[in-house]
Amino acid sequence: MEAYGATADGRPVEQYTLTNAAGMEVKLITYGGILTEIHAPDRQGRLANVALGFDSLAKYQAVHPYFGAITGRYANRIAGGRFTLDGVEYSLFKQDGECSLHGGEVGFDKRVWKAREIDGGVELSYSSPAGEEGYPGRLDVSVRYSLGDANDLRIDYAAETDAPTVLNLTNHSYFNLMGEGEGTIYDHVLMLNADHYTPTDARQIPTGEIAPVNGTPFDFRLPKAIGPGQRSADEQIMMAKGYDHNFVLNRAGLAEGDLGLAARVYEPRSGRVMEVWTTEPGIQFYAGNFLDTTLVGASGRLYRQSDGLALETQHFPDSPNQPHFPSTVLRPGERFESTTIYRFSTDAN
Ligand code: BGC
Repeated sequence: MEAYGATADGRPVEQYTLTNAAGMEVKLITYGGILTEIHAPDRQGRLANVALGFDSLAKYQAVHPYFGAITGRYANRIAGGRFTLDGVEYSLFKQDGECSLHGGEVGFDKRVWKAREIDGGVELSYSSPAGEEGYPGRLDVSVRYSLGDANDLRIDYAAETDAPTVLNLTNHSYFNLMGEGEGTIYDHVLMLNADHYTPTDARQIPTGEIAPVNGTPFDFRLPKAIGPGQRSADEQIMMAKGYDHNFVLNRAGLAEGDLGLAARVYEPRSGRVMEVWTTEPGIQFYAGNFLDTTLVGASGRLYRQSDGLALETQHFPDSPNQPHFPSTVLRPGERFESTTIYRFSTDAN
C-alpha cells in the first residue's frame, strides 16, 4: 500500500499492489475502486500492462469513460432515469441524454472506498446512503480484489440494504492484450458463450427482445476476430457505433452462484489469453466505440476508438423496467453476492 495523492476536496487515496508467485502485478486505487494497471505475461513471459488507464489521480478525477472502475449502483442504462419498485416511482440523475448511466452523476466509480487487506488481496467497502443518486435504501457494498497464482484476478461483490432497492455492480476495465496504447483491438479473437443478446434502440436501451445471435455479427460462439463485425453495416452495430451490447450468457447446467465461462479473448501477436468467468447472467461487450484522441493513457499515448475493449459482467441493462429480465431487486435481509474472475494465460499453455 502506498499513498496515491488526495482528491480535489482533500481526501487521501491509497494505491494497492497485488502480486503473485507467477510474477503478475495488479494495481488498484481506493478512488472508484479503479484497477489502474494489470501486468500480464506474453508467450515469452514478458509483462505488459493490459489495462487502459492513467498515471495520476487528477486524470481519474476528470471526465473519463469509467476506466477500471467499479460501476454502481446500477451499471449501464436505466431508461428515462426512472423505475417503479413496490408501487413507488424513483427518479434518477440523467447524464446520458434521457437515461441514467452507470449509477448517476457521482456513481461508485467516483467514491473513495475504505480498504483493508485480506488474504491475497484487498477488500474495499462503501456505504451508499438512502436516496443517493435517487436510489432507495442504504446500500452497504464490499468489493474484494484478489490475485491468485494461476494469474486469476478475482472480484467478489457483496451488498446488503435496509430498504428494497435495485443494483447492478460491475468492473469497467478496458483491456488491450497487446498492452495499453499498442493499437486497436480489431485483431483480438473473441469467444462469447452466448446464444442470445439483447438488441437496443437508438437510446441504447434494450428493446426487451432476447434475440438469437445466429446469423448476426453478434455470433461469437466460435472464436472470431472483432474487426469485421465492429466495422460492419449491421443496423444494431451502426446505432451503437460498434459493439456495445449485453449478451445473455449460456448457463445451462449451472446453479445460481456457480461460475460459468463467459468470454475468452486471444491476442495473436503476444499470445495473451484472457478468460472471463462469472456468476452473473449477462456480459456487456463494449468495443471502446467512444474512445477518442482527447485521452492520453498511462504510457503517454493517445487512446483512439477501439483501442480497448470492456467485458462487463452484469445483470441486463434497464432490468428495473423490464420484468422478464433476471431481477436486480435487493430486499432487506437478503445478501447480494457476485463473483467474476479474469484469468490470464498464453497460447503456449
Ligand atoms: C456502455 C457504453 C458507454 C461506456 C462508457 C459501457 O458500459 O455500454 O455505452 O459508452 O460504458 O461509459
